[in-house]
Formats: sequence, structure tokens, C-alpha cells
Amino acid sequence: SGWMNRITLGRLKRAIMNFDLKTLDLAGAVTEKCDLLVVLVPDGFKPGGDVLSSIAAQALKAKDFETKPGKSLQLYQAPGISARRVVLAGVGKADARSIRQAISGLGALFRQVGLKRAVLCLAGEFSAQAVGAVVQNVAHACYVYTATKPKAEACTLGRIVVGVADADAVADAFGHSTAVVTGVALAREWGNRPANHATPSHLAEAAKALARLPGIRCKVLGPAEVSRLGMGAFLAVAKGSEEPLRFIELRYSGAAAAEAPVVLVGKGITFDTGGISIKPAPEMDEMKFDMCGAASVLGVFRALAELQPAINVVGLIPACENMPDGRSIKPGDVVTSMSGQTIEILNTDAEGRLVLCDALTYAARFKPAAVVDIATLTGACVIALGGVRSGMFASDDALAAALLAAGDVSDDLCWRMPLDEDYAEGLKTHFADVGNVAGRPAGAVTAAKFLQRFVGDTPWAHLDIAGTAWKGGASKGATGRPVGLLVHYLLAAADNARDAVASKPSRRRIRKTAAPAA
Ligand code: BES
Ligand code: MN
Ligand code: ZN
Repeated sequence: SGWMNRITLGRLKRAIMNFDLKTLDLAGAVTEKCDLLVVLVPDGFKPGGDVLSSIAAQALKAKDFETKPGKSLQLYQAPGISARRVVLAGVGKADARSIRQAISGLGALFRQVGLKRAVLCLAGEFSAQAVGAVVQNVAHACYVYTATKPKAEACTLGRIVVGVADADAVADAFGHSTAVVTGVALAREWGNRPANHATPSHLAEAAKALARLPGIRCKVLGPAEVSRLGMGAFLAVAKGSEEPLRFIELRYSGAAAAEAPVVLVGKGITFDTGGISIKPAPEMDEMKFDMCGAASVLGVFRALAELQPAINVVGLIPACENMPDGRSIKPGDVVTSMSGQTIEILNTDAEGRLVLCDALTYAARFKPAAVVDIATLTGACVIALGGVRSGMFASDDALAAALLAAGDVSDDLCWRMPLDEDYAEGLKTHFADVGNVAGRPAGAVTAAKFLQRFVGDTPWAHLDIAGTAWKGGASKGATGRPVGLLVHYLLAAADNARDAVASKPSRRRIRKTAAPAA
């Protein structure tokens, strides 16, 4: 897929390094020729008879090094070791969080200019999930944004070898994580691009480029077609902008056409000023990230193209700007959604739910097995859960459990929030079927209750990623979440579907043999 990288990702290609997995112990690591050798040392490290083992053992004994995450020790051109630079890094109990802490502490090391080949040696028995965490976090550390800062020094690392005790045992997890890496990088890239470099049309072009990858198709609708579909809520938000809206439909076909797909719906507000209910100036620039739900859908499709799982997936992205203008919607305006429900727009800043509700109605035409929407939907979710876990709402317990589990394995956590009908009270209004806002209390929940009106009986989940999709402050930038969670959810769903198919013939066989006896 080398040439595809160039087309779909442009400059980003430089930021995607190649990972290789191999069986390697410390004795083998000693002779690895590379610019940088990172040895990840867990609690209870058992040294072998090689020179690296003895250095690590002595340093631990002398308390010059500890296995706690964040602790490290560097060597340069050490005699008997082929690597130019060696870093021993503690990874504690080698769970996803410890690995995240350890590798983020080494971050700048991987971005060092001139670095070409690095070897990471996992010194001990690491779980498959831990190997995935190593790949994720190293890739994360290597990402450098250059789209509108071409002079920024991109990561020069071309190849990263991940050395483990038994490569075969972790090969699947390794493959999944390298695919997630490509998806996360794409999501971060589109999230980070400023709104004038990531318009609805630009997102549509990015989606069309993905359709050149195997198994992926893409269709893009403009204002005329969206109007013909009767998407009055989506159109209402887009009205205030000079940038034409785009409705993006991606399809990945990995299973028989008759298999019900999972539909992913990503909020694609390429800039959210708030509209007439305008936002305050401080940090308004961060509203360029209001399309991170859409970016995560693009990222998932990138990973699907890499992995080719046996599942059908549809991606829907309603993309537009939310701007104040002479043509903008005004507080109190009532619009008719594609579902036929009328909506009183009491606050034009609650625009995400307006574009999503029409996309959710549209999703029903695919007769989906499940619908998952992903949206930077509410500031209230940031207050509730911060940047650690995404808010997860689900109408279906099995779907909720699957998403929670997928978040755990990918270290891309979420937390289930409630959907009690009592939370919907505040959305009632005298002037339409529903208002687009309730009061300030439980703002993340009332937003989810609004969306729920548009999903019918299909198992549905909503991920509020307002706190997790990007970081503010000194490390401002998109995180690529929740691409990891979604890809692992889809892989598990594909596995379940395959198991269900595999069990069918055997059941039939039992019935056939049982029939004559009866
Ligand atoms: N995109 C914002 C949500 C947001 C705000 C995400 C801050 C991350 C940080 C969304 O469109 C919005 O403005 N929501 C309003 C809803 C309110 C008017 C009911 C909010 O959260 O303030
Ligand atoms: Mn808003
Ligand atoms: Zn918004």
C-alpha cells in the first residue's frame, strides 16, 4: 500500500514508519545494528548471560535504574553492543498504562533528527495487548504535524523493529496495532488541520481517496441531494456558511452483501463558532477539532483497508461549518428533520445533534446490525469525564459491553453513561416536537437523549469524544481517539459473526441426524 499512502496521506507518509515484529531476546539485541535500541524492562526482570542483561542487572542492583515507568538509563557506544545508543526503560507491570507512561517519557528520543532504525526489545513475557500498546505509543511519539508547518522537522525513523520473546504468539495483536496506527495517524492529521485546510469538501476528497483502497467505496452528496433527502436539520446548520456542505458515505465490504453492516456516523463540523449563539473568543480555535468524530471514521476505514476483516461497515459523515451570518438559523427557528420530527433550535451552538440526527435517520436504510455515532458533542462531557474516558451511551447492553471491552484492549477507554427517559423532560417545547437543548444539568445525557429519538429500534451507541479527541494547552493536538476502540470493536464483531456462521452447519447436522430417530 506504499503508493496509496502517497495519494491518501500526502506528507503524512513521512510520519508513518514501518514496524517489524521479530523474536528477539537480549542476547540477540546485543548484535542488532541500529541507531537506537530501547530495552523495555518490566518488574521482576530476569537477566540472561548477555552483556545487556548484566548491565541492566547491575544498574538495578546499584539503584541507578528502576523498572518503574518513567525511569530510564542511557548508554552510548557501549562496548560489545552494536547499537549506537541504548536506552533501558522501566515499564513496571507492563500493562497498557505503564507502557503509555514509559514511552511518552521517551517521546523526544524517537523524534531525534537523523534517527533511521530503532529496535525495541521487550525484555520478558509481554502480553499481546502490551505489544499493541508499545506499537501504538511509539507511533504516537513519532507523529509530527507538518501540513501547514512544512519546516517542522518530521520524524526520520524509517523502520522500527519490535523484538519479543515469541513473535508468533503476538503476531495478530501486532498486525492489528500497526493497522490502527495508520488509522490513528489519518484521524490525527485531519483533526489537526486548520478549518481552512479541512473544509467539508476537503474531507470528502479524503474519503474519496480512501475509496481507492481495497474493499472501500465512497459516495459524496452535496446541498441539492441533501435537500432532496429532506435533511432539514443538517441543512439548517450549513445555511450560515459559504462553504458548501458535504454528506459522505463510505462503505467497506468484507462480508457477504446480505450481512447487516455496522454503521458509523461521525460528526463533521469543520468549524464550530456556535453560530448566532456565538462562542466566546478564548480557545475558539479548538473548534477546528469539531470534526474529530468524522476524522475517526476516516481513520477506521483506513485501518479496515489494512486488515480486511469479514464484516460490512458503512461510514456516514455530515460535514459543514457552523457560522453566524445573515442566512444563519436563529434561536427559536423550527426546522423539519429527515425523520419528519420538527425541532426548535433554541441554541444554534447545539449544532452537532442537528447534523447527526439526519445522518442517523439516513443510517436506517442500511438495515444495520448496530449504529455507533462518534461526536465531539458536549462541553458537559468534558466536565463529567475529562480526557481519560470517552462518554458512551448505548440503547443495548451487549453493544455497550462490546464497546467497553474494545476500549480496554486498545487502551482507548470509554465509560457508560445513562439514558433514563426522565432525562428527556427538558427537551420538551411548545413549538416543535423537540427542542435541541435542555438545561445545563446532565448536558451530555440530554444531548444523547435528543439523538436517541432518531434511531428507532436498531441497537445504537453514541460516543461523546469532546474530552478525548484532542488535547489543549502546550500539547495541543488531535489524539486519534477513538479509532483504536472502534477498530477493535469491529474486529471482535467480525469474529463473532464468523463464529455464528461456523456454528450453523453443525447445528443443522445435529437436527438432520436427530430427525430419523424421532
Ligand atoms: N462542539 C461543541 C462541544 C464542545 C465544546 C466540545 C467544548 C469540546 C469542548 C458543541 O457543538 C457545543 O457547542 N455544545 C454545546 C451544547 C449546549 C449549547 C447545549 C456545549 O456543550 O456547550
Ligand atoms: Mn456547538
Ligand atoms: Zn460542535
